[in-house]
Amino acid sequence: MALPRRLTAPAPTWARDVDVVVIGSGAAGLSAALAVRPVRSVLVVTKGVLEAGSTQWAQGGLAGVLDPADSTENHVRDTLVAGAGLCDEAVVRQLVDEAPMSIRYLMRLGAAFDPSHDPVPRPGLDIDIALTREGGHSHDRIVHSGGDRSGAEVQRTLDQSAVGAGAEVLNHAFALDLVVGRSADGSPQAGGVRVAKMDEHGGVVSVGTITARAVVIACGGYGQVFASTSNPPAVTGDGIAMALRAGLPTRDVEFVQFHPTVLWRGRGATGQQALVSEAVRGEGAILFDAAGERVMQGVHPQEDLAPRDVVSAAISARMALAPAGVDDHVYLDATHMGERFAERFPSIHAACREIGIDPAVDRIPVAPAAHYSCGGITADLNGTTTLPGLFAVGEVSSTGVHGANRLASNSLTESIVAGTRVGRDLAWELPRPAQLDDEPDSDITGVLLSPDRLGEVRRTMSRHVGVVRDAGGLATAMESLGALTRAASPDVEPNCASWEATNLLTMASAVVSAALERTESRGCHRRSDHPATEPAWVRHLEVVLDASGAVEVRPEPTSA
Ligand code: SIN
Repeated sequence: MALPRRLTAPAPTWARDVDVVVIGSGAAGLSAALAVRPVRSVLVVTKGVLEAGSTQWAQGGLAGVLDPADSTENHVRDTLVAGAGLCDEAVVRQLVDEAPMSIRYLMRLGAAFDPSHDPVPRPGLDIDIALTREGGHSHDRIVHSGGDRSGAEVQRTLDQSAVGAGAEVLNHAFALDLVVGRSADGSPQAGGVRVAKMDEHGGVVSVGTITARAVVIACGGYGQVFASTSNPPAVTGDGIAMALRAGLPTRDVEFVQFHPTVLWRGRGATGQQALVSEAVRGEGAILFDAAGERVMQGVHPQEDLAPRDVVSAAISARMALAPAGVDDHVYLDATHMGERFAERFPSIHAACREIGIDPAVDRIPVAPAAHYSCGGITADLNGTTTLPGLFAVGEVSSTGVHGANRLASNSLTESIVAGTRVGRDLAWELPRPAQLDDEPDSDITGVLLSPDRLGEVRRTMSRHVGVVRDAGGLATAMESLGALTRAASPDVEPNCASWEATNLLTMASAVVSAALERTESRGCHRRSDHPATEPAWVRHLEVVLDASGAVEVRPEPTSA
């Protein structure tokens, strides 16, 4: 099946030139913008407004070793165990080493993390900060804010800091495709991005070209490719799809992390679902099925705080047995917290109250939903990709930190560390300018998927490519996506909705292709027809789009 290699759009009518253009305005993008701004001009391009992405919704917090009773070795080990054999240990160590600094940095920027209410302070802890635990962590090392509003505090802090430092922001602007030129030796080099300014309904106002010495992609994952997700509507895989169209390799895209507990609001609820943070289980809540039996007892030594892939798989298996006739959700019992629940988890409490649940006395109905894209554009922790001039940071990237399953609350930390690293590196030195072709300004014509067909993409993905997969379901998904690809048409109006639909179709095709190829179960890729974790599969799969727009899956070349 052939996917578009450029997004259809009118001819550019304006141009801008900056040192650094950052696509995306969450923790990773704004950290990069803030770090580079003192000495460079930087333009942040965001599809909505600054806080429209996933960062704002993160509940748990940031993982980092602050308690002297904990150690970097513990954090490294927990990350590697969760990552199920596909983390890059050296990169994990870089992250874990810099994680405490990144948290203290945010505090110096003004982030208000929750203070400890411990009557006896933790020995040797030099700041008054509450530390909690989430799935897969062997120690308390998650800092949080506003109880369960950690991401919102990180976003607020970085919005103020980056804008205050003079980063310019272009709101309601869709990053369509990379502008790729040549370096001095004739090899390809990123030189900018084609961008559409949009009206409030997502219609095209104008298209322009932003040229830059460095392009930083930081626009998150692709949770919206599934019918039910914790991700906000803006998370449509735009950055990874753009990189694929530019010929870059992506890696590990089959590893979509399903959060075990989003609030179940009834059969068929679709779109963004309210998260019920893992920190609720960190505070002692227990999962039960509808027949009142514990879900995690005997499944894993860490029981309800096992790594996320294990808990999601156990819930799915239990739902398949339909205890007491209930096959689409289980229950989280946090009633031991009583009235303290509302204070510790105000957002979750409000979401529960909206559906008539009082967590102080009722068990909370929950089910797994798509939450985090562990894979992405192949990059290192400095954001360096295979294309000179192009950098990728945060969820959009695959750095080797998360492997086959991300450890809870490592993602905000990674975004701050990697975003700051790339910003600092670009402050020190910019790539030499790319030679850009003097292309005549022209319309890009091709095919787009009609937004009317997006529901089919999402239903297909949730039905056949969810927590547990098999060859039959994946083949059916591939057929449906093939039919949708063939249905893409030059007659579809270019606008935000059709570009997002096309990007999501591209991401769905990449995920299914890699999931079919990986004939084993590992981390958050579970195959009922290949339940074992196979030593031969301790390797990454790359997905690329070939020149005709066909998806190609291949083992990542080893550096040896
Ligand atoms: C949560 O609060 O459970 C989510 C935290 C994360 O995804 O890292």
